[in-house]
Amino acid sequence: MFGAAGQLGVELVRELKERGYGVLAWDRASVDITDPAAVERALAGYEPAVVFNAAAYNQVDVAENEPQAAFCVNALAVRNLALACRQIDSQLVHFSTDYVFDGTANQPYTEEDMPHPLGAYAVSKLGGELYARAYLDNALVVRTSGVYGPGGLTTARGNFVELMLRLASSKNPIRVVEDHVATPTYAPSLAARTLDLVERKGAGIFHIGGGEPISWFAFAGMIFQTAGVSPALTATNEREYRTPARRPRYSALSNAKMERAGVAPMPVLKEALAEYFRRRG
Ligand SMILES: NC(=O)c1ccc[n+]([C@@H]2O[C@H](COP(=O)([O-])OP(=O)(O)OC[C@H]3O[C@@H](n4cnc5c(N)ncnc54)[C@H](OP(=O)(O)O)[C@@H]3O)[C@@H](O)[C@H]2O)c1
Repeated sequence: MFGAAGQLGVELVRELKERGYGVLAWDRASVDITDPAAVERALAGYEPAVVFNAAAYNQVDVAENEPQAAFCVNALAVRNLALACRQIDSQLVHFSTDYVFDGTANQPYTEEDMPHPLGAYAVSKLGGELYARAYLDNALVVRTSGVYGPGGLTTARGNFVELMLRLASSKNPIRVVEDHVATPTYAPSLAARTLDLVERKGAGIFHIGGGEPISWFAFAGMIFQTAGVSPALTATNEREYRTPARRPRYSALSNAKMERAGVAPMPVLKEALAEYFRRRG
């Protein structure tokens, strides 16, 4: 497992151990996936059946100033992993993003929809998908959306829920975009459904989003309601709230293919959020 200290990485490690699998877990300090020799050294002698890559460069706006840094981690490093997996005949399980789409759809994106990334981060993530599938026939690429997990409490980047709670405690008015819709995804459920797919020999591209399309404004409201706080929250939009990176307006993911493969639907968003608050203590 590479990227084991991220929001998703910690949940994959926990879920794998709970299911009785032996796990080797590397965080960034122990293996930087942009270093092909370090990746090969880590895997040498183990030949695991499955290699998970939960590492990623996720700074969507910063990537516009340093597209090469994003491409190194999200695309070229995935090539390192794919080549290493090919040598030892391991399945690569890699994670990608709803941002590979341009957001012009008006219904949840399926795996058949054509990617059209809008910025440096999104291009780099699509590059990673292509590298994983260029070198391996059985790679599993899971696209997800707006990930939040208890691990985000301790990571530098955090997640949207923690950002909202920080803003709420600052007492300043909070403005959140109403015209961008995604499917926020609870990391422990994403980890569990991913392992369900792996156990069913899933390969190719699968979408695992939270299952419920919602605007970031409405999600912020749900977060505050669940947390039992009521800060001043107002809706804004893309025109008023400019960011360095363009983002898809509508990037909800359809989980239909995952469900057709026999994997249970994702939990109801409100319940997943309540569970998040229980887990974060
Ligand atoms: N978070 C989201 O909203 C979101 C949305 C859509 C898709 N995804 C995808 O879902 C997956 C999991 O994301 P996440 O939320 O768990 O991300 P995360 O919490 O930001 O974790 C990413 C981890 O990767 C590590 N990392 C970065 N560069 C690395 C490198 N060169 N070598 C090894 N490790 C490195 C990071 O370490 P440092 O902390 O030291 O940098 C961090 O521990 C990623 O593929 C991501 O692109 C996430």
